Amino acid sequence: MTFPHSRPRRLRRTPALRRLVAETRLHPADFILPVFVREGLTEPAPITSMPGVVQHTEKSLLSTAEEASQLGLGGIMLFGIPAQRDPHGSAGLDPEGILNRSIRAVKEQVGESLPVMSDLCLDEFTDHGHCGVLNPAGEVDNDATLEIYGQMGAAQAQAGADVVAPSGMMDGQVAVIREALDAAGHHHVPILAYAAKYASGFYGPFREAVDSQLTGDRRQYQMDPANRTEALREVELDLAEGADMVMVKPASAYLDILSDVAGISDVPVSAYQVSGEYAMIEAAAAKGWIDRRMVVLESLMAIRRAGATNVLTYYAAEAARWLQKD
Ligand code: PBG
Repeated sequence: MTFPHSRPRRLRRTPALRRLVAETRLHPADFILPVFVREGLTEPAPITSMPGVVQHTEKSLLSTAEEASQLGLGGIMLFGIPAQRDPHGSAGLDPEGILNRSIRAVKEQVGESLPVMSDLCLDEFTDHGHCGVLNPAGEVDNDATLEIYGQMGAAQAQAGADVVAPSGMMDGQVAVIREALDAAGHHHVPILAYAAKYASGFYGPFREAVDSQLTGDRRQYQMDPANRTEALREVELDLAEGADMVMVKPASAYLDILSDVAGISDVPVSAYQVSGEYAMIEAAAAKGWIDRRMVVLESLMAIRRAGATNVLTYYAAEAARWLQKD
């Protein structure tokens, strides 16, 4: 009896055989750690909806960056929370503002060992919480916002950012930021464009993390979760405008988009496992309903398998430690 002839199980018999034929691997350099730094904080402040994640003080940010460097992570992505907000988000432009100051300090700490990336968006800095400035009708004014993004990009590069990451989903943002960077002599600073960013409920816990002032939603500028083909259009536009890397966000519920984008992109593709994805895993694990470590690594593997070159994840440091021990 020789039936069946094909037995895929042969290559699954031992851990060593499975390792031999694995199509996807995880490595610490695949992970980018998003971090929050809050102006005026004296102790790290826990974020209730993201157990294990904190708002950093300017001091604790540095030890976390140092650890990220030691672990060999792919990068660190900085989000700043200013003490004062205004309608135009001016703290985001100020070279002494919390984000630019922190870029400088982290860069001094880690040097060339870890790419320092900065979120380029106004929502943390505006008193209305939108990603751009508002017109008299109260809508986000695309073109007025672009000008500010250009200045913000130049300020971040000046502070030492290795990569700037525009996340506001304004039309034309990549071109304007590229032009502003080049005009200020920062030809070498790449743009990681949040290209296919959806208006997602999965960002819920992030709003607590940055103490968001937003009322309403971002559906006039972030993408409609109903749309798939449109993601390719967004990516093509960003590539034409000079994006050096493109991002899909969120990740787990958008693996179809990620797969499509990876299929057409000739630049590296990032995916952001966002705050709500983290919170759901943490909540289910806390109940004992899932195996936390197994699900974390599986979720990261799935995102890489779908086509991501690298993954922004709040698990970056922990996952890297697990991989080092294995
Ligand atoms: C905007 C920005 C957001 C996130 C990253 N950059 C919030 C939003 O678009 O509403 C969300 C990240 C997360 O949920 O983990 N600056």
